[in-house]
Amino acid sequence: MAKPKTRYACQACGSVTHRWQGQCADCGEWNTLAEEAPATVFSSKHDLTSGGRRVAFEPLDAPSERLVRRSTGLAEFDRALGGGLVPGSAILMGGDPGIGKSTLLLQASAAVAKAGASVVYISGEEAAGQVRLRAERLGLAGAPISLAAATSVRDILTTLGTMEPPALLVIDSIQTMHSDQIEGAPGTVSQVRASAFELIRFAKENGTALVLVGHVTKDGSIAGPRVLEHMVDVVMSFEGERSHQYRILRSLKNRFGPVDEIGVFAMEGAGLAEVANPSMLFLSGRSEPIAGSAVFPAMEGTRPVLVEIQALIVRLQSGATPRRAVVGWDNGRMAMLLAVLEARCGLNFSSCEVYLNIAGGYRLADPAADLAVAAALVSALGDKALPANAVWFGEVSLAGEVRPVAHAGIRRREAAKLGFTIACGPPGPASGDGEGRYTELSMLPNLVDRILGEA
Ligand SMILES: Nc1ncnc2c1ncn2[C@@H]1O[C@H](COP(=O)(O)OP(=O)(O)OP(=O)(O)O)[C@@H](O)[C@H]1O
Ligand SMILES: [Mg+2]
Repeated sequence: MAKPKTRYACQACGSVTHRWQGQCADCGEWNTLAEEAPATVFSSKHDLTSGGRRVAFEPLDAPSERLVRRSTGLAEFDRALGGGLVPGSAILMGGDPGIGKSTLLLQASAAVAKAGASVVYISGEEAAGQVRLRAERLGLAGAPISLAAATSVRDILTTLGTMEPPALLVIDSIQTMHSDQIEGAPGTVSQVRASAFELIRFAKENGTALVLVGHVTKDGSIAGPRVLEHMVDVVMSFEGERSHQYRILRSLKNRFGPVDEIGVFAMEGAGLAEVANPSMLFLSGRSEPIAGSAVFPAMEGTRPVLVEIQALIVRLQSGATPRRAVVGWDNGRMAMLLAVLEARCGLNFSSCEVYLNIAGGYRLADPAADLAVAAALVSALGDKALPANAVWFGEVSLAGEVRPVAHAGIRRREAAKLGFTIACGPPGPASGDGEGRYTELSMLPNLVDRILGEA
């Protein structure tokens, strides 16, 4: 058997030799070679405790560069990002086709470029002429953006290597990018992963903020490998009903900030306009109260947004299976509420079709919506309109209790500001603060009594 060779590793640069020398041949440092345990063929294959380089440890409080965020020029975009673009970070922007991703990014690019930073916009989907047409329509044709239509990652990185690294690099979209290091057509899992990896590495090394546009699949998740979401620092989704004007920019993951803030935009002929105060946006302009409609003060991050919940109940004469349809809320959650209303309040929905809609194309995720949905359902079932100036909030448990929710004070203040002077919600500390009248509902049957009972 061959005698295992002694190895000497340089403590400065990690290079390995089999002969001791005073000076490291690789880095030129003196007296840095130290003997290491000899590695046999077996041990070098199966034992990872030797033969590697020493990793330097650093204290957590080592001085580092302060995070300086760059504004995108759109306050709502900045808000959703948690304060602006972080240099060297990678952002993945998903959204339905035609929702306005390219428009948003072109507007942000133009604002960053006008503020004096260099911006590169690579379009893999549209020809440069198309992007120019959009810029003209948005009134941004004068912005000093470096625009190119390209799909080869090698071409893009070669080009970027010959110039000063840009402050912002937009890739529209990652599914059209192609890396020649990997077999396969653009858009395949391995291509998307390899292209994103190369682009993210460039961004990290050069302090460029990178925005990758990602296609979404039918169920709304970003197409391609899930691992793409792990590779980037921020995942954002641009949402909205295409038939409605309003668009919401949400961050689903953020390594540099909170994920509960949203940015609200309105899609107009001249591009996306920012909506700084969205609290009234999703209320339908109602003149008189209608049965089945309840107003809910939702929280989006730190901002309250009033939304209208509409329920419609149709009694079926035949024995057909009734339909249940929900737009803008969770299907399972409505089934649960219907079950609680049947089991705890003695209401009967079994021969009724139930439709629930959140007005304005809004998607509700706040668990405090339970009570407002229940109020809309009970009001629709009894054909009794709720007071026009009332808001409802609270979480409903399977036992039929109305549970306290976060930010009750903020919800009530915003509602009162907009003329909703009656609030109905869970008992607890919320009842004390805030303006207007507050009705405590501790159990779901109290709600039913209040809506159907007295009148
Ligand atoms: N002339 C116009 N006037 C008003 N709105 C327009 C006009 N042209 C386009 N739009 C709006 O812009 C939207 C398209 O925006 P954009 O191309 O930015 O979407 P996208 O998310 O990038 O789409 P894709 O997934 O196809 O890349 C259209 O759906 C439409 O609402
Ligand atoms: Mg686009």
